[in-house]
Amino acid sequence: MNVKIDKEGTIVILTGAGISRESGLDTFRCKDGIWSKVNLEDVATPEAFIRNPKMVQDFYNARRSQLMEDKPAPNSGHLALAKLEENWPGRVLIVTQNIDNLHEAAGSKNIIHMHGELLKVRCNHCGSLRHWEANLHVETECPDCAETGGLRPHVVWFGEVPLQMEEIYEALEDADLFMSIGTSGHVYPAAGFVQAVTQLGGCHTVELNLDPSEGATLFAETIYGPASEVVPAYVDQLLES
Ligand code: APR
Repeated sequence: MNVKIDKEGTIVILTGAGISRESGLDTFRCKDGIWSKVNLEDVATPEAFIRNPKMVQDFYNARRSQLMEDKPAPNSGHLALAKLEENWPGRVLIVTQNIDNLHEAAGSKNIIHMHGELLKVRCNHCGSLRHWEANLHVETECPDCAETGGLRPHVVWFGEVPLQMEEIYEALEDADLFMSIGTSGHVYPAAGFVQAVTQLGGCHTVELNLDPSEGATLFAETIYGPASEVVPAYVDQLLES
């Protein structure tokens, strides 16, 4: 770590699928990743949900069941970020692209799921949003309005607007340190956060990834290796600095 951060400084941490890889959850674009097995146009767009809702529900049912049945545990990367939030005097915010619940399971509290959450569903008819662990089917009745056909995973699909963007940009404006962990830098707006904080000035940027992301050259500092190793090491340096 080649920089000093004010101890009262604000730390904004972007995470992607790579931080959950060592907990046993697949990434999207690595070799054998999710998008090498299924076409995202068939399962992760609003058009797909209209065209073939069963295929979309089955795709998320399989991923929700993996969370509920395999019970993946947070790894030392997730745990290090929870430790940072616990011990850092300033503000720590995790902005995750992940829809799993591993940051929560690790003990982090200050989290924005900008792409939604696998364990939540919402109703297109009445707008209700609720925790959901079971499989979802086209004929599943909404517990709030009793309509069928309207329940969908509370997940942001391609072509939809990510969640809590205003809150995210407010935090980026305030950031003294921006950490990007386990993301390929392929999907916007998340991939643009590093440019945003760089243009604002006064924020150190670091990429912690298995290998260089598409935005690697935009970071002031880059550290490569598995999240379970590089994240705890970086957090320890921050807390000791
Ligand atoms: N430790 C750290 N980084 C890792 C590890 C690991 N053990 N394993 C893989 N990675 C890195 C890869 O090098 C890659 O850069 O994690 C990144 C995963 O990239 P993607 O699979 O593209 O996942 P992500 O960046 O989170 O995708 C963003 O795309 O499909 C949409 O909505 C979906 O949120 C997702 C978004």
